[in-house]
Amino acid sequence: MIRKKVREILDGEATGTEVLVKGWVRTHRNSKNVSFIALNDGSTIRNLQVVADVNHFSGELLGEINTGAALSVTGILAASAGSGQAVELVAREIVLLGGADPENFPMQPKKHSLEFLRENAHLRFRTNTFGAIFRIRHAMAFAIHDYFNRRGFYYLHTPIITASDAEGAGQMFRVTTLDALQPPLTEEGKVDFSADFFGRPTNLTVSGQLEGELGATALGEIYTFGPTFRAENSNTTRHLAEFWMIEPEMAFYDLKDNMDLAEDFLKSLIRYALDHCSEDLAFLATRLREEEKGKPREQQSMDLIEKLKFVADNEFVRLTYTEAIDILRNSNHYKKKKFQFPVEWGVDLQSEHERYLVENHFRKPVILINYPKEIKAFYMKQNDDGKTVAAMDVLFPQIGEIIGGSQREEDYDKLVARMEEMHIPVEEMWWYLDTRRYGTVPHSGFGLGFERFILFITGMGNIRDVIAFPRTPRNAEF
Ligand code: 4AD
Ligand code: MG
Repeated sequence: MIRKKVREILDGEATGTEVLVKGWVRTHRNSKNVSFIALNDGSTIRNLQVVADVNHFSGELLGEINTGAALSVTGILAASAGSGQAVELVAREIVLLGGADPENFPMQPKKHSLEFLRENAHLRFRTNTFGAIFRIRHAMAFAIHDYFNRRGFYYLHTPIITASDAEGAGQMFRVTTLDALQPPLTEEGKVDFSADFFGRPTNLTVSGQLEGELGATALGEIYTFGPTFRAENSNTTRHLAEFWMIEPEMAFYDLKDNMDLAEDFLKSLIRYALDHCSEDLAFLATRLREEEKGKPREQQSMDLIEKLKFVADNEFVRLTYTEAIDILRNSNHYKKKKFQFPVEWGVDLQSEHERYLVENHFRKPVILINYPKEIKAFYMKQNDDGKTVAAMDVLFPQIGEIIGGSQREEDYDKLVARMEEMHIPVEEMWWYLDTRRYGTVPHSGFGLGFERFILFITGMGNIRDVIAFPRTPRNAEF
């Protein structure tokens, strides 16, 4: 018999049909003559109720059907008398595939704290919350490829190991096969990287953008979607040392085209989630409501689904960095000294400022453009004012910066001058500069932090809970 997934069975198998199903036991309770087993196989948040006649199965077998055990069940679908499901499976044959010792299995059917589940990240997929999160994460990855594919963008696989620092921020993890305790030395007593695997110092990439630009200036429109690594020591709820980034890069786009794409992209993905992940979203919305029950009204967030619809249906606000600084400095929040970090033209915005703009002032997502050149990367297009660059950050409620991007400097001389000012090794970047030597064109791109986006969609509060196995400072378990 062909195995059916729980989702298929609950969505359409007729009563009277014989089916084979396999999955893990969520709960098992006994009444006088029958035993009720809630079986989940990951295909949906819903469980299939399996009904086992206690006179038909051995007490030994039934005794081993504990939370966490894996079963294969054959039976006949019947209309369910119980509430919450239309059909249930009347078991004819049950095979215990793998038992789970009830004394030791950590995922017992009760409420666990997110901290506890993080320590048990290898088993947390077995909970409703993490099942929902990872099904949504999958759906969003699929929607991203679908979005770009429909628009003629090509998926470009940029390297993970690189010899250049794309963001020029020096937050990189070294990749080496040299012996850390006894590295070969040069005559001057420095580490001799010419003896290393690649014959030079190499790192894990912080961004695929530079290689993305090479692709875009020939293929037209490309995107990358891969892991990126940052050795920044920020232990916050929004930073990971290993995260996934989506970086579209488009020839012939100026900053306005770039903003239009970013806004449409985010809204399309949100709509996809609303259309395709409604069950899991409804579960997470309820979870969030429960979580916030005790909080005072003004600290409670908008209902998850309402919030997603709101962002999908409303225009993002667009303004310049300079206008944002004015708004912040004129705010009561600023006057009452409620910001922890300074607000001054030239200083980078902190997430408290970004969130103030989005959550208190505009109450909408915001795209900030034209940042001071000193606080942005070397490759951004220099504006005519000589002070700002054509950068854009998209700011979201609860998250702050979700996208960072810019129009790129396409003028060879201006780019080289800026690189020299910022001590970027110009000779080593000859291949990047060649795009500006041969057929240079205006072009733009941005990077969406995948986990920050999944945080927004799921309403979770900590980025460690939307990636399977988070990598953060002092933490690389699993
Ligand atoms: O603003 P960032 O640093 O931009 C770039 O890397 C550009 N090369 C993108 C481009 O123009 N192609 O990073 C882009 C996004 C941020 O807005 C944020 O969402 C996410 O990546 N991000 C992180 N997410 C999780 N943990 C971290 N440590 C992150 N750093 C950046
Ligand atoms: Mg940024």
